[in-house]
Amino acid sequence: MNVAGKHYRTIWLAEDGWAVEIIDQTRLPHEFSVVRLETLAETAHAIMDMLVRGAPLIGATAAYGMCLALREDAADSSLERAYRALMETRPTAVNLRWALDDVRTVVKQLPPERRAAAAYRRAAEISDDDVARCGAIGDHGVKLIDDVWRRREKKGRVNVLTHCNAGWLATVDWGTALAPIYKAHDSGIPVHVWVDETRPRNQGASLTAWELKQHGVAHTIIVDNAGGHLMQHGMVDLCITGTDRTTATGDVCNKIGTYLKALAAHDNGVAFYAAVPSPSIDWTLRDGVKDIPIEQRDAGEVTRITGRDDAGDIVAVSIAPAGSAAANYAFDVTPARLMTGLITERGVCKASELAELFPEKAKVTTKAQGHQER
Ligand code: MRU
Repeated sequence: MNVAGKHYRTIWLAEDGWAVEIIDQTRLPHEFSVVRLETLAETAHAIMDMLVRGAPLIGATAAYGMCLALREDAADSSLERAYRALMETRPTAVNLRWALDDVRTVVKQLPPERRAAAAYRRAAEISDDDVARCGAIGDHGVKLIDDVWRRREKKGRVNVLTHCNAGWLATVDWGTALAPIYKAHDSGIPVHVWVDETRPRNQGASLTAWELKQHGVAHTIIVDNAGGHLMQHGMVDLCITGTDRTTATGDVCNKIGTYLKALAAHDNGVAFYAAVPSPSIDWTLRDGVKDIPIEQRDAGEVTRITGRDDAGDIVAVSIAPAGSAAANYAFDVTPARLMTGLITERGVCKASELAELFPEKAKVTTKAQGHQER
């Protein structure tokens, strides 16, 4: 997508052809700054400290982290060390495991001297595939927005509520939940987005609002608790969120607070969709609430808030009494029964019908687990 008229992806190779460059998302929306990654340690730090975040981008970054590690040392021991170091960075987004498994499988069968080059090729393919997948999610999802627009005889605007950031910043390009919105906007549908601020890290207010603004999409930032009120008053036509991990049965894990939005949508008859690229599906899991590991982050993200002061400096301030305990659960799970549908790169389906869209994946995993084949 474009930033001040220049096209960017969220991750790319530097001019030297080996170092990796990313946009430092901890500086947005105040500052657009590019960071160069040269080592495995720098890459792991960029994921852990959320310079890059969002499930698909975490996967692509981890793939490049493997390249940087193999460039220095391509022995089996180094390959396994890199795999483990990156796997430990963030526990919930399953794209991380998916990308690491993918790169490891490709390079492991090669002699060490050919591993780094093969990893770079695979990381580039993973990135390109992500762009194509998100584009396809946009093509399928835009029909849902267009349906609303036609139902209301092309009057007014279509109001979509989203949570956290599942835009191009969370992926390599396009985004997941925001891809249908960009495609709707580009095709002339007047779409307006309610942007949940998304405490504690405010990915909605900082990142989603920033990227929608760059693209000229109408939007309004709301506090996390406003969604239910808006739905009661007919001000939300549909909700679209992203996902960090979706089970084979269609339970959707996403940023903390998503579940409460889905409950409010259910109570008010508002359609609730998640945009689900296939690498975010964990075919080994069937019960999201019980089985998906939920990341718990530093309590300081809850008791402090970061922003730009009037002097232009980015500062963090306390918003809680010193010594109060705080808990920071980063994700929650919305059961399949609360989802109107899932938007995948292969089309829109009911949450319970994911396996029908991806029969080859569902079959292989259930077989391997010894479960009954559907
Ligand atoms: O903690 P983050 O910022 O990495 O969380 C990811 C998210 O922004 C969302 O949960 C998102 O909807 C899934 S990624 C497309």
